[in-house]
Amino acid sequence: MKHQHFFAGCLAIAATALGIGSTGAQDTIKVGLVMPMTGTVGAAGQEVAAAIKLYMAQHGDTVAGKKIEILLRDDGSVPDNGKRLAQELIVNDHVAILGAGTTPSAMSMAPIATEAKVPTVVMISGTSVVTERSPYYVRTCFTLGQQSGIIADWAIKDGSRKAVSVLSDWAPGAEAGKVFEQHFTAGGGQLLETLKVPLANPDFAPFLQRARDLKPDTLFVFVPAGQAGPFAKQFAERGLDKSGIKLVGPGDIVDDNDLNGTGDSLVGVVTAGFYSAAHPSQLNKDYVAAYAKATGGKRANFISVGGYDGMHLIYEALKKTGGSADADKLLAAMKGMSWESPRGPVSIDPATRDIVQNVYIRKVEKKDGEPWAVEFAAFEAVKDPLHPAAK
Ligand code: PHB
Repeated sequence: MKHQHFFAGCLAIAATALGIGSTGAQDTIKVGLVMPMTGTVGAAGQEVAAAIKLYMAQHGDTVAGKKIEILLRDDGSVPDNGKRLAQELIVNDHVAILGAGTTPSAMSMAPIATEAKVPTVVMISGTSVVTERSPYYVRTCFTLGQQSGIIADWAIKDGSRKAVSVLSDWAPGAEAGKVFEQHFTAGGGQLLETLKVPLANPDFAPFLQRARDLKPDTLFVFVPAGQAGPFAKQFAERGLDKSGIKLVGPGDIVDDNDLNGTGDSLVGVVTAGFYSAAHPSQLNKDYVAAYAKATGGKRANFISVGGYDGMHLIYEALKKTGGSADADKLLAAMKGMSWESPRGPVSIDPATRDIVQNVYIRKVEKKDGEPWAVEFAAFEAVKDPLHPAAK
């Protein structure tokens, strides 16, 4: 521990000596991204990287007189790599700003960002506590809690009373399950069982069989980005799509990146999510078209907007500071910022540094032969319900 503290202290001194984050005098501002480009959640890092590239192609690579240079590092979906890569980006590459990806990696990077005073935009992690781990963390993606309570309330209204949860076994899954259970039982429902599926190489079949044997009226499922496709396949193979059991969840289970390959198996599924490629605003239509063009035809998904908006936040904050990358000035500029995202209106809660956004209820419908998550109700300006400030 002592050794770690000493090292982190050196980081802070090195950063100060180099004038990083303090003078804003350099002509180039380096942004270090630590993303899962490979491994268990490799799809997510690639989606964030594609969206950031798109943002910069649309807005240029210069802001407030400073050239923006992106340094992208692959953490391989391994938590501890996040910490090492963040250290290297700060000490060797002198980045002024960091972008963090998934929960475990963002957690491991937090002490480094704090000690070196590096503003860090969290672009994938959906676990509540992450933003509390560093005063330099600001989140532009989502939390699972934001979506899971809303879908529980909707299910109760829709007549659900006996549910089984099937959750990917890591922090965001635990939070999704916890908030769903709180709302579902408060509404008079009963949670029959919680089934935890391993994060890596999941085989959903035995869990789905067990869930079916429990005879629930509703199945609440969380699988992370990149797993909606395999999940939908096994869901249909078990005949669950025709079983009369209602499938609900946060938006992750109808990830637009996978949805188009799921045929009819998720048609009719209702989720609470903050982003759908079918969101009807003009801004989103343009975003979806531009993302598809830039990626060889891929659908923009909920992960991509965390990166796109993350870059927007960095650009707008730099405009406000007049190009200064001073950490405290950037943080002050980011807090309270609001803008129109492809997902709808969003803001950064100045008290928690977390994203405040609309959560939509959506039903999977086929349009022109393709399944889309079509929004039919909206809850406005939803905050993370698990943050201590929400209580
Ligand atoms: C997370 O890192 O917390 C995370 C990643 C992918 C998801 C949801 C949450 O789909």
